[in-house]
Amino acid sequence: MPDEGVVRLLIFGRQGAGKGTQSVRLAEHYRAPHISTGDMLRSAVANGTAIGLEAQSYMDAGKLVPDSVMLGVVEERLHEPDVEAHGFLLDGFPRTVGQAEALLALTQVDVAIDLEVPEEVVLERISSRRVCQGCGRIYSTAEPPAVPWTCDTCGSQVVQRNDDTPEAVALRLAAYATETLPTIGWFDGKGILVRVDGLGTPDEVTARLIAAISAATSGD
Ligand code: AP5
Ligand code: MG
Repeated sequence: MPDEGVVRLLIFGRQGAGKGTQSVRLAEHYRAPHISTGDMLRSAVANGTAIGLEAQSYMDAGKLVPDSVMLGVVEERLHEPDVEAHGFLLDGFPRTVGQAEALLALTQVDVAIDLEVPEEVVLERISSRRVCQGCGRIYSTAEPPAVPWTCDTCGSQVVQRNDDTPEAVALRLAAYATETLPTIGWFDGKGILVRVDGLGTPDEVTARLIAAISAATSGD
């Protein structure tokens, strides 16, 4: 790691690639906060905040929330003490070149990861995904909670996400192609992008990610 105990990571990947699943594991491994802009927006929607009210229609339709809204949300979070002390693992931000430029004006980034999973596999993963409405824990039909539709962690209801409809998923994948692929290329141009195969079991993918991050941050 570049600084003692501080790691600044971004994780890119198609919708359903496993960014959230892997970010929880990496955040535990590196003891750095997992900052998921999707989770933050879903929580804002659930709490009926001004940002939630503005974001909901974009999210449900599968469109990107405007950069002006996203930048405020992320900048505030990056100034919190846990980020200053331990760094961050950003999941779902940046997704546009404008967001990327704004991020690098605020902070340094050590490694940007592209978790590669083909479209046909993400479509299967999304259709089998279930999430906890309370804490956001991610399940799948292959690995459901012990009590059906009830979160093992917090006991809240487990549901399908509002934006996991075929129509919204198609729009989300289209926005990924037009906005996020160029953003990934932008980080590649900065020399800090690492591509990691996201196929296999979650444990296999985690091991691959940790090895790739170690190699990138030790200068190998
Ligand atoms: P967000 O919540 O970030 O959604 P997303 O990018 O569409 O990504 P997902 O959460 O769908 O996929 P994931 O890669 O996290 O997969 P997961 O780990 O769940 O954003 C939602 C919306 O918010 C956006 O559409 C936009 O409107 C807005 N937004 C957010 N950030 C924004 C920004 N920066 N700018 C503008 N708007 C923004 O895994 C999927 C499933 O696969 C799960 O069921 C999981 O159990 C399973 N799985 C995971 N790994 C494996 C494996 N190895 N093998 C088998 N199954 C697996
Ligand atoms: Mg996610």
